[in-house]
Amino acid sequence: MKSIAFIDLAAQQQRIREKIEGNIAAVLDHGRYILGPEVGEFEGRLADFVGVKHCVGVANGTDALLMALMARGIGPGDAVFTTPFTFIATAEVVSLLGATPVFVDIDPRTYNIDPKQLAKAIKAVQDGDPSLHPLPAADDGTPLQLVPKAIIPVDLFGLPADYDPIMALAQEHDLFVIEDAAQGLGGIYKGRQAGSLGHAGTTSFFPAKPLGCYGDGGALFTDDDALAEIFRSIRVHGKGTDKYDNIRLGLNARLHTLQAAILLPKLEIFPGEIEERQRVAQRYSAGLKECATLVVPHVPEGCQSVWAQYTLLVKDRDVVQEALKAKGVPTAIYYGRCLHLQPAYANLHYKAGDFPVGETSSDNVFSLPMHPYLDNETIDYIVEAVCSAMPASQDS
Ligand SMILES: Cc1ncc(COP(=O)(O)O)c(C=O)c1O
Repeated sequence: MKSIAFIDLAAQQQRIREKIEGNIAAVLDHGRYILGPEVGEFEGRLADFVGVKHCVGVANGTDALLMALMARGIGPGDAVFTTPFTFIATAEVVSLLGATPVFVDIDPRTYNIDPKQLAKAIKAVQDGDPSLHPLPAADDGTPLQLVPKAIIPVDLFGLPADYDPIMALAQEHDLFVIEDAAQGLGGIYKGRQAGSLGHAGTTSFFPAKPLGCYGDGGALFTDDDALAEIFRSIRVHGKGTDKYDNIRLGLNARLHTLQAAILLPKLEIFPGEIEERQRVAQRYSAGLKECATLVVPHVPEGCQSVWAQYTLLVKDRDVVQEALKAKGVPTAIYYGRCLHLQPAYANLHYKAGDFPVGETSSDNVFSLPMHPYLDNETIDYIVEAVCSAMPASQDS
């Protein structure tokens, strides 16, 4: 049986191990472990890559989201619109600040927030009318009285959300848009890089991400000078002129020097790796289109996915996953339960059926191995394994 990695970080490391070791040695030599020169160098290079004025390196993608909300003073009574088909961090940060996530269903073809549903959700919150769109409710069932403040679209699986209509709605209703590009960095929307598509963007360098470090890490992006200044302040306990001058409440949320040193050579090879991810995805899709009963990922005109995940939708997911496992093909489910149905969000009193597209997706999606070092022979083996695993009954 073939042994296939879901993500092959070792193959990448082999290419750049010497540079990584050299950079780590340089940090050990200069000893500036906190906000050392590698952090600034990496921030400058990543800002250039994303095409924004400011990149602020932080401790992880969750802190990046939290900081973007903190910088805008989001708190109790505020509504933040986001998708229920995402990792918990996207909504968790909203709740940690005492604000309320208002979930909005996704587009069935892209799995990203549906701008038409978003327009309805904004109106429903403004009017306090759950007949227009499902809303979070109090224990007695009455909708929570909230003020619309922000939107967090997620670039799920590496594909940017549909920002033109989202930004138009944001302008109309004076809402702040935070692009959650934890999975999206390296994706493109109409010629612009992911991370640059909202008023602020965030990403994660969790090791399995398209651009990952060897621990936790993240970044914030913006073109707004004043906002960038606030981000830099929040990441060091709300510092003013120095960390003992505290002009606001902040966090300890700095990107580690060692992680920046590791990210520098990784960023150098990132554009080539993005190309390789396109090769893998295109070969998967070309082969899998032959199995008529599964849905391959859709990339809208003018967009590029960075393929953080290559995700299929099938009817009998368990059967297919079992058959793939027997052939040595690892798979994973992102995400098996929408956030509005998670126990952590029982207090918002959403119910099954509120977001049918998200719920159907969570019942039927699974992801295949995806990384830039997947060779064509292995891709073809996986394609063959998926097609032969499709239950014949689905054709009837
Ligand atoms: C969509 C999304 N948002 C936020 C995060 C949080 O990033 P981190 O794990 O770096 O805190 C993740 C990480 O998996 C994610 O996938």
